[in-house]
Amino acid sequence: MSAAAERLPLSYARTLSWLSLLFILLSSLGLSFFISSSVRETLLRRQEDFARQLVENLNSQIYRRFALPTILANGRIALRQPTQYEHLDRVVRSVIEGLPVERLRIYDFTRRVAYSSDKEDLGRAGLAPPNVDDVLEGSAGSSEIVSSIPAWQAPFRVPLKEGTFVLRVLYPLKGEPMGPDHKVPVMGALELTQDITDDYERVLAFQGIIVVMCLLSSVLLFGVLHLLIQRAERILAERMQKNRQLENELHSNERLVSMGRVVASIAHEIRNPLGIIRSSAELLQRRTATTDAGTSRILGAIYDEAVRLSQTVNDFLDYARPRQPRDDLVDVGLVLDQALAFLEGEFSRRGVTVERDLAPELFVRGDKDLLYRAFYNILVNGQQAMDGPGTILVRGRRRESPEAQDGHAGQPEVALEFLDSGPGFDPATVSSLLDPFFTPKEGGTGLGLPIVQSIIVGHGGRIELENGDRGGALVRVILPATTTGETRHE
Ligand SMILES: Nc1ncnc2c1ncn2[C@@H]1O[C@H](COP(=O)(O)OP(=O)(O)OP(=O)(O)O)[C@@H](O)[C@H]1O
Ligand SMILES: [Mg+2]
Repeated sequence: MSAAAERLPLSYARTLSWLSLLFILLSSLGLSFFISSSVRETLLRRQEDFARQLVENLNSQIYRRFALPTILANGRIALRQPTQYEHLDRVVRSVIEGLPVERLRIYDFTRRVAYSSDKEDLGRAGLAPPNVDDVLEGSAGSSEIVSSIPAWQAPFRVPLKEGTFVLRVLYPLKGEPMGPDHKVPVMGALELTQDITDDYERVLAFQGIIVVMCLLSSVLLFGVLHLLIQRAERILAERMQKNRQLENELHSNERLVSMGRVVASIAHEIRNPLGIIRSSAELLQRRTATTDAGTSRILGAIYDEAVRLSQTVNDFLDYARPRQPRDDLVDVGLVLDQALAFLEGEFSRRGVTVERDLAPELFVRGDKDLLYRAFYNILVNGQQAMDGPGTILVRGRRRESPEAQDGHAGQPEVALEFLDSGPGFDPATVSSLLDPFFTPKEGGTGLGLPIVQSIIVGHGGRIELENGDRGGALVRVILPATTTGETRHE
């Protein structure tokens, strides 16, 4: 699998998580702006409605309580006269008393300030808003928000100064109609301004809370998503590594198997001519033994090498094509005695003593020749490892299989232990010792222990390699036990 393909599923998820963060952020920001602007709109509309009602009320109060009585008394309205001005001021103040009105102005037809709640503005020109003309010409009036800073800057300049946002309502000041067709003349333009900075600020705070909450929740969501992806990535990487390892093992096993087949057929072809070489050398050696000592020695070497070679070839063939074990009743103690008897001469020459601690009647079902080969290999390995004098302790017991052997707990079994006084197994290589051809030993084939294992497993048992408590290698062979009367059930 290519590296790009390996990364694909999670890089896709990663991109997706970033995109979802972006999407959540944008949509939450959009949502917050939508909510807060609709709140702002509602608030402003209510303010506007209120201001319009106030202005209409003011208009009628001015007309009834000031304009009419003044015209009746004086013939005309002249606000420059202090008495008229004060009269109007009283009327206006009685209406706006206690209401959130910042300023109130009346413009006359010369666009000058005819009345103002702020006396200093009186008579000044140039203060009227541009749309005052429309109102004076009879349009219905208008309202607008006037701000001293651009609206987009407002969120960054909180707390806002008083008067930053002002609602201005412009309304025609006119009398009341006498009848349905009576057109009332416009007397001036009424301007009412309200400071709505506080309300605006509250909306901004509300908007800020929504934005912050959305940001926090989307970042939290993204964090959780990111953690999950990271975990998934780790697990996936581990799985992929394991898969690669398994794939490699599979490939090397396949190679080994096909190589093994080739080597096995070569070994098979070598075995017969080798037998002929060996028997011919033996024959020739016997013939020349009395006449020519030099030739006899050479023939002896040929014979020995041929024996060694055919042993190796047989070992390999035994491993590569193990024969079906027979199903006889075998006394393991007897087989061990045979192997020990065969090795006795060699062992005593090298100063190796064997301590035998075998319980009686260690019966198993199987092939005594194969078991003999297995025990022989283990004993020879022990002797070779000690490379000189030493002891091999052979223990044999019948026991119940422990719990750990799933499904077979409580089954009777024969446990054999071969403990030598050599250097013990090298912990660095012990896990490879059962692999065919693995051998740190010079001149070894690395087939001894694999053959032992294949024989023992073929008998339904298992082999364990470890080091003894007080050093030395400990080879444990466990075989399913039987009694003399039992037959094997396949
Ligand atoms: N009793 C032991 N003590 C220490 N090391 C051992 C012992 N038995 C086996 N080994 C190690 O395990 C290796 C593999 O043993 P195995 O019998 O499979 O092959 P070999 O002995 O090297 O070759 P061959 O059996 O063909 O002569 C040995 O080379 C040795 O290093
Ligand atoms: Mg060996």
